[in-house]
Amino acid sequence: MSSAHTLSRQHDFPSDFVWGVATSSFQIEGAAHADGKGPSIWDTFCQVPGAIADASDGLIACEHYERWQEDVNLIASLGVNAYRFSISWPRVQPMGQGEFNEAGLNFYAQLVDGLLAKGIAPYVTLNHWDLPQALQDQGGWANRDTVQHFVNYASAIFKRLGNRVAAYTTHNEPWVIAVLGHESGIFAPGLKSRAIAAQVSHHLLLSHGMTLQALRAQGCTVPLGIVLNLSPTVPATPSAADQAKALLEDGRLLRWYMDPLFKQAYPQDVIDDLGEQAPHIEPGDLEIIATPIDYLGVNYYTRSVVSADGSWKPQNSGLPLNDMDWEIIPECLTQLLVRMHHDYPLPPIYITENGGAFPDPLRDGQVNDQDRIAYIDQHIAAIGHARDQGVQVQGYMVWSLMDNFEWSSGYSKRFGIVHVDYKNQNRSYKASAVWYRDFLAYQRLQKNGTPSSASAEKNRVTGVV
Ligand code: FCB
Repeated sequence: MSSAHTLSRQHDFPSDFVWGVATSSFQIEGAAHADGKGPSIWDTFCQVPGAIADASDGLIACEHYERWQEDVNLIASLGVNAYRFSISWPRVQPMGQGEFNEAGLNFYAQLVDGLLAKGIAPYVTLNHWDLPQALQDQGGWANRDTVQHFVNYASAIFKRLGNRVAAYTTHNEPWVIAVLGHESGIFAPGLKSRAIAAQVSHHLLLSHGMTLQALRAQGCTVPLGIVLNLSPTVPATPSAADQAKALLEDGRLLRWYMDPLFKQAYPQDVIDDLGEQAPHIEPGDLEIIATPIDYLGVNYYTRSVVSADGSWKPQNSGLPLNDMDWEIIPECLTQLLVRMHHDYPLPPIYITENGGAFPDPLRDGQVNDQDRIAYIDQHIAAIGHARDQGVQVQGYMVWSLMDNFEWSSGYSKRFGIVHVDYKNQNRSYKASAVWYRDFLAYQRLQKNGTPSSASAEKNRVTGVV
């Protein structure tokens, strides 16, 4: 089945453009207690009554820990040249400090080897939120000691995986960890303190900079970076109150991370707004945070609309919404990238996550997700527009390879281009997977005259639509 969505084909992407799919450890691996893995804060959080919409957990998830070879074949069958995944810190270091777990390290070493054997570049994220619970018991990211523990953990990963991977990312979406995890408390570890959230964000950034320095000192030559969740922040109405609130939110979401990374300073308007809740910063911290990165990962899903009285609802906007009630507005991705290009001395950019949850009805064993195809098509085109305006975007990764544990939404929201039947763990292409595979084959044809990579054909997964 192929689809008519072809906006993305009207743009020229270089032959070395990185096309991938993305996942994260807690969302797909399962095997929560297997082979010496320690508990993570998400294992704990899932036990809190009411924390997860469908009262589910990550105990089984997509059984990727057992099925990783099948999944590598699945990834290869799409014809992508990259796969972004994360390492579960408590799987490789159950207590978050001290002893490492050989079975855990070995799991990721095999995964990297398996990907490389298929010609797929491994993009490794060191922290996609599943902090060891043992460290949370000592204050987690609010405790400055966690910074050094993270550097030690990252160094051990580098020692094992070395320069065989395509890139290392320190943290995925520090805003989410800080604000959703420690201020609103809707994500693990579920705390509700603005002061703690601010301190957590500072420690995440500090550990990012220290890790870059440590890995480079240990001989790391592959690109190092961080992944931020970014959106343009717009006022719900032109009123002065809404505009002021939107500016502050832009500071909290974007400038709070971009300014220290690229300008060695936190934005003063946010510091002023935090007042006594501003983080404790030690001399030298900001210099470390501003250690140059080789690339910046941007996760983009939607814009952020802000009203001073909190009354704005996505249903008011008239824009199409996805199954998360997130507005679908691809032009905001172009806008965001062009604005960042003007405001900061950007390194190469990768769109490390983009995609959508849609209702995905299963009919005759098939998911004909034209809405998801349209979304991906439009957003790839939006990247093309940004590239036309001089933004150096070098890669795009669909969130997600397959349906998985969507944090506080549990399994009720499906982001995959591959459908997962949680009763038997069968994976099957949705129409969007077929579309993406065809789009990638078209890209190869444009660039070097080969419609499909050898591995894409050879490794077609049996049973896949
Ligand atoms: C991002 C997360 C990712 C996934 C998507 C939908 O914030 O990084 O794990 O949940 O949202």
